[in-house]
Order: sequence, then C-alpha cells, then structure tokens
Amino acid sequence: MSRLADALAQADRERSVTEQVVESFAAGEDPRFRLVMESLVRHLHGFIRDVRLTQAEWDASIAFLTRVGDITDERRQEFILLSDVLGASMMTVGVNSPARTEATESTVFGPFFVADAPAFEHGDDLSQGLSGRPCHVHGSVTSATGTPLLGARVEVWAADDEGFYDVQIEGTEFAGRGHLATDSNGEFSFWTVQPAPYPIPHDGPVGDLLTLARRSPMRPAHIHFMVTADGHEKLITHVFVAGDPWLESDAVFGVKESLILDFVEREPTSHGPHGRALEEPWSEVRFDIVLAEE
Ligand code: BEZ
Ligand code: FE
Repeated sequence: MSRLADALAQADRERSVTEQVVESFAAGEDPRFRLVMESLVRHLHGFIRDVRLTQAEWDASIAFLTRVGDITDERRQEFILLSDVLGASMMTVGVNSPARTEATESTVFGPFFVADAPAFEHGDDLSQGLSGRPCHVHGSVTSATGTPLLGARVEVWAADDEGFYDVQIEGTEFAGRGHLATDSNGEFSFWTVQPAPYPIPHDGPVGDLLTLARRSPMRPAHIHFMVTADGHEKLITHVFVAGDPWLESDAVFGVKESLILDFVEREPTSHGPHGRALEEPWSEVRFDIVLAEE
C-alpha cells in the first residue's frame, strides 16, 4: 500500500472509533443527555487525534485524575479546583450569564461553600473568631428596575487574613460564613474581616499542574456572595478589593472589573456601625447588588 493509502486507512479507523462510540449513546432516552455525550465524545476524540496522545501521556492523565480523586474529601474538592484553573468554571459561568448589563455580574463558585451555615441578623459579626481587621460590609439588593427586594437571602463566605477558610482550619466550624435576609429597605449589613489575597490549595495535583505551567496559585482578596430572591435569578459572585496586586492574574480567572470595589480604611472610633467600638483601624465597603428577573 502507498503512504497515502496508509494514511487514509488510519483516518478511517480513527473516524470509525468515534462514530461507534457516538452511536453507543444514541439510544439514551433524554435528548439533552444524547446531545451532551455526542459532543463530549467528538471533542475528546478530536483532542486525542489533535495532539496524537501517546500511551505514556494517557497513563499520566489517568494517574493525574486518580490523584485528583484520592485527595478529594468533604473538606477538599480538587475536581472543582481543576475545573477552576482550566477556566472551565468561568466558561460555565459565562455561557450561563446572558449579557444583562443591568444585573450584577457573576463569578466562580469555588470549592469552599458550605451548606447550612448559620443565620445572622443585620449588623452581626460573621467572622466568629476568624483573625483579621474588622470589615463592615453593607449594601442593597434590588431588581433590575430598581425595586428593593425585601427578604432576599444573602449568603456570604470569606477567608481570614492569612487566606484560610474555616474548613481549612482544624477544629473550626462555621466561621466567616453565614446568611442574612435583606430588611424592609432591601438593605443588608454585617461585619467580617478584611479579606487578603491567598493561594488556592496547591499541595496536590492541581498545584503540580500550575507549577509545570509556571503559574501562580494566588487569588486576589475577595468575599464570596450567593444571593437569592423570589422571581429572580440566583447570583453567585464575589467582591474584590481595589488595588490588590493579584487582580490581573487570578489563578482561576474570576475577576470582573465591575466587581472590584473600594474597601475604605477607617480610623478607630468608639461608635462604629451598629454601635461597635473599634480600637484599631477597620474598613468598610458598600456592595449594591442587582438581580436579573427570572
Ligand atoms: C475561592 O475563591 O474560594 C476559590 C475559588 C477557586 C478555587 C479555589 C478557591
Ligand atoms: Fe475564595
């Protein structure tokens, strides 16, 4: 056989593997399942053909994913981390947030959300002993038409001044996280600690991937929010601290210009917000949230 005939036979063989696998999912009942699986198989096979994946590379990929699974438990979610550093999380956020200019932008969820965090009242301190400078966070939740949304649920989670979430601190539960409801003016207000930049967990396989790429694991300082209100789309987002040195190179590609806010430094005072006495400098930020209608 000529070289050309060999190459054509090879291409045929490769195409036929893809078609067989696509066909094997075609009897699935759910049309969405069939669509997703067909596209996944075509892209995955296309990728393998594109890079001419070697057997050794396939072995290394399986070993890598096995390590991702091995290190994952209820306190460590390495699969989310992998999705985040590959930009898959932000791409999913992007395709699910139609360009509604009036609504607050969303960003990556991250691996540190914990369900069933405690409820707080207006003015409470969510930090519950997390170390850091006091930070007063307040704002409003409105619909795109400007109507204040009463009783919207504002869920917050944040790390301490060394960048550790409660779930990363041995023996700590529910610190720096919780939820509160907006009041009759659609306002919310709480204390936490001033966020600091921190590295995403990089002592596992995802960290090794970053090292190979000479990428930094750092994220700019931020506070996480998840906001829900009847008749409105759920918002998952952060506020970022203006001036942070890592805003341009977030390890998980989560920064959006509109989410960068001024955290204003304040002097000590005997009468801070909600009557709190502050013997050290503290900070304050206002975050006005707009939810898209469903
Ligand atoms: C976070 O901000 O909590 C986070 C997001 C993505 C990966 C790791 C951490
Ligand atoms: Fe975070």
